[in-house]
Amino acid sequence: MHTQASKTSACEGMRVWIVGGSEGIGFALVKQLLEAQALVLVSARNAQSHLRLLDLLKRYPQQLHLLDLDVTQKADLTAKINQAWSIFGGFDTWIYNAGAYIPMTLETWERNAFEQMNAINYLGAVYLMVELLPKFRAQQPTTDSVIYRPQWLWNISLAGDFGLPYGGGYSAPKAALQNLAESLQPELKAAGIQLKVVNHGFVKTRLTAKNDFAMLGLMDAEVAAEQLYQALFKNRFETRFPWSLAWVLGVIKRLPKSWALSLTRRMLKNA
Ligand SMILES: NC(=O)c1ccc[n+]([C@@H]2O[C@H](COP(=O)([O-])OP(=O)(O)OC[C@H]3O[C@@H](n4cnc5c(N)ncnc54)[C@H](OP(=O)(O)O)[C@@H]3O)[C@@H](O)[C@H]2O)c1
Repeated sequence: MHTQASKTSACEGMRVWIVGGSEGIGFALVKQLLEAQALVLVSARNAQSHLRLLDLLKRYPQQLHLLDLDVTQKADLTAKINQAWSIFGGFDTWIYNAGAYIPMTLETWERNAFEQMNAINYLGAVYLMVELLPKFRAQQPTTDSVIYRPQWLWNISLAGDFGLPYGGGYSAPKAALQNLAESLQPELKAAGIQLKVVNHGFVKTRLTAKNDFAMLGLMDAEVAAEQLYQALFKNRFETRFPWSLAWVLGVIKRLPKSWALSLTRRMLKNA
């Protein structure tokens, strides 16, 4: 098993598809994977014209490929998935990192915003996994090395632990994805695919730039990406960090609901 040691060649030849790799945590993870010599396909809505990805492509022309893919465009997905699969002749690792966050108050509720977050934070993963499963199953493992074992890594969120004021449109589909992952893990494991989830807290990206409150344990995208990278090598279903927020939300989740809600009520803007 690989450890925190140097990344040089740690992922040599590992074929990774990261969906949502153009910005924030995903982009930081792409850089770490390339450094470790993985073969990486990056998807996002405009991956093929994304300037920072194009810069990376110049540095890693043999390892990096880009594919425009909008996970909400159901009609295009089969063709896009086939195209993705053909680039390296399959994948060892599929990472679902796409996410959307639109905080709303009662005054700003919008049906489209709820639908968008449901489509990106939950249904996108479902659409992709349904088509990827038969492809992963049909693939013969080439070696026993841990990095070539079929695995799916879903970046979910600690927000799925308990719904907090204004964030329910985001956290409800995240909680659904966590529940789905728990349900699927045993069957997928029996089918030879290791499903892993990462539930982390606040990271400095364009998503949290929308927050106007103090964020406990706020970290840089590189720090979060390093944890996702390490999760690829661990034989562990769930990775949770930072411990401070994971602990607070873990406690709120387990409290009697009336107690938990009296705490979260204090997060209201005019409380
Ligand atoms: N930031 C945090 O504090 C935090 C905390 C917990 C969990 N997370 C989760 O971590 C993941 C990454 O978040 P981030 O903060 O790094 O956000 P980000 O900077 O906005 O990156 C999100 C990525 O998802 C892609 N994406 C969005 N909509 C898409 C679509 N319809 N189809 C395909 N790709 C799409 C984006 O690319 P395009 O926009 O170019 O398509 C981008 O590459 C998300 O799942 C998020 O929920 C974040």
